[in-house]
Amino acid sequence: MLPAQHDPGPGGRERPSSPYAPQRQRARVRYGGKVTVYVAGHRGMVGSAVWRALEAQGGVDLVGRASAELDLRDREATFDFVADTRPNTVVIAAAKVGGILANSTQPVQFLSDNVRIQTNLLDACHAADVERVLFLGSSCIYPRLAPQPIREDSLLTGPLEPTNEAYAIAKIAGVLHVQGYRHQYGRRWVSAMPTNLYGPGDNFDLDSSHVLPAMIAKYHHAAVKGTGVTLWGSGSPKREFLHVDDVASAVLTILERYDEDPPLNVGTGEDLSIRELAQKVATVVGFEGDTVWDSSKPDGTPRKLLDVSRLMALGWVPSIGLDDGLRATYEWFLAASGSVRRP
Ligand SMILES: NC(=O)c1ccc[n+]([C@@H]2O[C@H](COP(=O)([O-])OP(=O)(O)OC[C@H]3O[C@@H](n4cnc5c(N)ncnc54)[C@H](OP(=O)(O)O)[C@@H]3O)[C@@H](O)[C@H]2O)c1
Repeated sequence: MLPAQHDPGPGGRERPSSPYAPQRQRARVRYGGKVTVYVAGHRGMVGSAVWRALEAQGGVDLVGRASAELDLRDREATFDFVADTRPNTVVIAAAKVGGILANSTQPVQFLSDNVRIQTNLLDACHAADVERVLFLGSSCIYPRLAPQPIREDSLLTGPLEPTNEAYAIAKIAGVLHVQGYRHQYGRRWVSAMPTNLYGPGDNFDLDSSHVLPAMIAKYHHAAVKGTGVTLWGSGSPKREFLHVDDVASAVLTILERYDEDPPLNVGTGEDLSIRELAQKVATVVGFEGDTVWDSSKPDGTPRKLLDVSRLMALGWVPSIGLDDGLRATYEWFLAASGSVRRP
């Protein structure tokens, strides 16, 4: 169900305003005539894409702080910042994020940092009476063997994938925290669970990156040196990949049109095997050597495809195909000197 003020109404009258559509922004003006959106984690891959999308649309004041300026694990500093900036809307894209290796070697940081960041932010937003909060989780919150494609109501129906359990538990706590604020205090806050993301701003550091950027970096360096490539696992697991600019457009759609308890899945609804992905990346990078699959390394969940029918029913569709997205991401990687995290 759409929030009441967004109902089309009888006779198809125009929907009233939203800060995410410039032509409609006036009805939400407050705090001295400004609509302020705080993007927590605005320098990260997702946060920077959300920032770009909001900036392109116009009509909002954007606020962001690097972790060096505001450590969201610091509860008092977080409360002070949110109270001072008084945003109407907060997008929580700040988190400790990483691939299988980082997740399995640092479970303490993945649980503790993420619980503190999201708990401090949600409690601070409540204290400051923030109207809309969108908490970004991840598709790893769902059980390892959830029926495919994974529906939102699979949450808490089975054991998690062990390689990222600590991270998933932290994110599940965030989803329940948002729901708690909805039930107990009537907050119009929501959660979104994106699938595997990629794009400009991604982390290409092999010690902490996700599978797709790790592949780009490995194939690139191997192509430059003329060596072969070894990839983790058997290559058989199937995964879904969404360009980060598509997740940003989904965030805007959700903020404008969604106001319900369950998290909303964000993905393409299509998957491919890791082996097929490797072939695509090798082609984009121009790699012509051999690829060896190291099956002594973990595969992770055998298949992870999200059911995105609830999000698509709101009118959102992804617009960047995997081949185009991979080419653009590789160009960004090259422009960023090939190996650094930030250009
Ligand atoms: N990447 C994916 O494939 C993926 C998939 C599904 C869901 N998500 C979700 O999307 C969100 C963002 O992910 P991402 O890929 O954009 O991660 P990212 O590129 O690593 O960015 C994370 C951001 O969080 C900020 N941050 C981390 N610790 C902080 C702290 N203690 N205080 C303040 N800020 C802190 C960082 O700030 P600084 O840069 O200033 O240090 C950074 O901007 C996460 O919730 C993640 O679970 C990501």
